[in-house]
Amino acid sequence: MEKIVIQGGARLEGQIPISGAKNAALPLMAASLLTSDTLTLGNIPDLADIRTLSQLLTALGVGLNHEKSAEKTSLSFTARDVYNTTAPYDIVRKMRASILVLGPLLARFGEATVSLPGGCAIGNRPIDLHLKGFEDLGADIELADGYVRATAPKGLKGAVVHFPVVSVGATENILMAACLADGETVIENAAREPEISDLAHCLQAMGAQIEGLGTERLVIQGQPQLHGAQYNVMADRIEAGSYIAAAAMTHGKIEILGQDLLPIMTGFADTLKSAGVSLTPTDGGILATLKRPKVKGLNVVTQPYPGFPTDMQAQIMAMMTLCDGASVITETIFENRYMHVPELTRMGADITVHGSTATVRGVSHLTGAPVMATDLRASMSLVLAGLAAEGETTVNRIYHLDRGYERLTEKLYACGARIQRQKAENT
Ligand code: EPZ
Repeated sequence: MEKIVIQGGARLEGQIPISGAKNAALPLMAASLLTSDTLTLGNIPDLADIRTLSQLLTALGVGLNHEKSAEKTSLSFTARDVYNTTAPYDIVRKMRASILVLGPLLARFGEATVSLPGGCAIGNRPIDLHLKGFEDLGADIELADGYVRATAPKGLKGAVVHFPVVSVGATENILMAACLADGETVIENAAREPEISDLAHCLQAMGAQIEGLGTERLVIQGQPQLHGAQYNVMADRIEAGSYIAAAAMTHGKIEILGQDLLPIMTGFADTLKSAGVSLTPTDGGILATLKRPKVKGLNVVTQPYPGFPTDMQAQIMAMMTLCDGASVITETIFENRYMHVPELTRMGADITVHGSTATVRGVSHLTGAPVMATDLRASMSLVLAGLAAEGETTVNRIYHLDRGYERLTEKLYACGARIQRQKAENT
């Protein structure tokens, strides 16, 4: 295992290039199963989750080619000789987004057997909305021995799929399946995250007929088959927001490098600005600084897009530990996404949690301490706190971070952070 050791207090100044978005790349990779042609994806981030899904696709029989240029990675997927439609537990348990292979396998091959993903640290993460959607499209669903077995021997049939709860993954799974269904599918109350529009744009490049991108109503005309395409993964808005928080918390000045970042940061760019962060567009991206002595306390409620994203909740909470006054944060998406709270408290933060609401009272400073990462975004909030704290912070179990942040220590080190990865004793 490895840990990250940070000597806090450095003002971060410099440039941070934003990688391709994990939560766009994963469904895009699954979409390769919808065609026997080659799908080439550019700007793929080099992350543990990407490697896990690549491993799963290979196990299904998908041909995989890496093209690594100086700083970008392209992956080519060819699902011509798929000989296995079962996604095994030992891979799915590592990354629940593996469930995204279910829709494409079912739509293309008429069957799919996928291990139930199980819960994770932030919640029990059911997949009932995915399964109901497939039944609406005419599939038979069986649950046995911890697996979902979905079959549609006569193919899927277009239908109206209404989601009572907004679900990113369920929207993506049904959207992909509907592309090969017979007839028209309407997805009502669809999630509207930018990563879904990214997936839809790629599917359109593959020949899919999709209308309503960016809205809660997607209309898909099923096609007999899709063809290959070349597509670049969009930038990671959550990574960008995380490093903007780093600039604010260290009173630094970081140019976040990437094209068209502000439009995809709807939902939290304004929140950051109302906290006192200035986001100035530059030729290369966005210059982030804090334009007041302390972050301004805010009320934040996580919502589906275009609301404040749950994936930025832990990071803005880290920011608010040093706020002027107090802040109230309400997590409405996941039932257990406050595991960063006890760790931040150990660093001197003043946070009380009642149910889904956390009250954060600003303190004058944080103090470095050994802390434990529990999930991807919680680990980032601990890194942020460590960068701002006085003294040394050690973040253990950083395999959580490696799932979603590409070259994190290098990117921060280049801006003057006193940060390094080290081998960890048995933690
Ligand atoms: C995606 O997860 C993201 N993961 C998550 O990012 C993100 O937090 C989440 O969307 C919300 O934005 C990927 O894109 C790979 P949901 P997903 O289905 O699709 C409930 C990160 O840190 N629900 O939108 O699993 C569910 O329990 C990760 O990068 C059902 O009840 O999220 C939750 O309360 C963490 N039944 C709510 O809906 C279902 O069938 C939203 O979940 C599906 C979901």
